[in-house]
Amino acid sequence: MLLNRQSFGDPVNAGNLLSREEAETLLQSWVPNPRLQLHMRQVGYLLRAWAKEKLAADETLQWKWEMAGLLHDADWDQWPDLHCSKIIEELENRRIDPEVIRAIASHGPAHFGVEPVTDLDKMLYAFDELSGFLHAYSLMRPGGYAGMDIKGVKKRLKDKTFAAGVSREDVTDACNRAGLELDNLIQFMIPHQEYITQQWQQQ
Ligand SMILES: [Fe+2]
Repeated sequence: MLLNRQSFGDPVNAGNLLSREEAETLLQSWVPNPRLQLHMRQVGYLLRAWAKEKLAADETLQWKWEMAGLLHDADWDQWPDLHCSKIIEELENRRIDPEVIRAIASHGPAHFGVEPVTDLDKMLYAFDELSGFLHAYSLMRPGGYAGMDIKGVKKRLKDKTFAAGVSREDVTDACNRAGLELDNLIQFMIPHQEYITQQWQQQ
């Protein structure tokens, strides 16, 4: 749904984040679907890893990035018609940092009508669609993520019948907005997504 607004949260709440336990409780109570939970954990971990490795972010900033990914689809499972206004309002009511809320609001500019502006906005958008695509690809490979390479991912991206729900236009648009080559994005994502997926599948 179009959000029909461009301002999210209150600047006085800058720096206010949920604790990991609070975010986990919200995730568990709002998202019964384990597949969607995994997707959100994958995107959260990718954002954490990006902040750490590319931006030398401290632990607090890493968590801020992770939290945006961890909660970006929190309302999709039970309230798809309200996606993503319900989670935005929840985080506004909890007085969360407006940058986290804005990132969630701009994770699908074509759907929500909010432009990604900050690095966090852009990376959440970039990781979101491609993360789901990589996971779909892993499920059809005998070894899952093991041995996955850029060439294979790009071949599947060209096959419009594969994971047809993933918008190739959004993938390209997200890379352009983030100023990233698709190859570099995929290269970063494969090992990190393999790691976090294994972590959760072992539980
Ligand atoms: Fe998502």
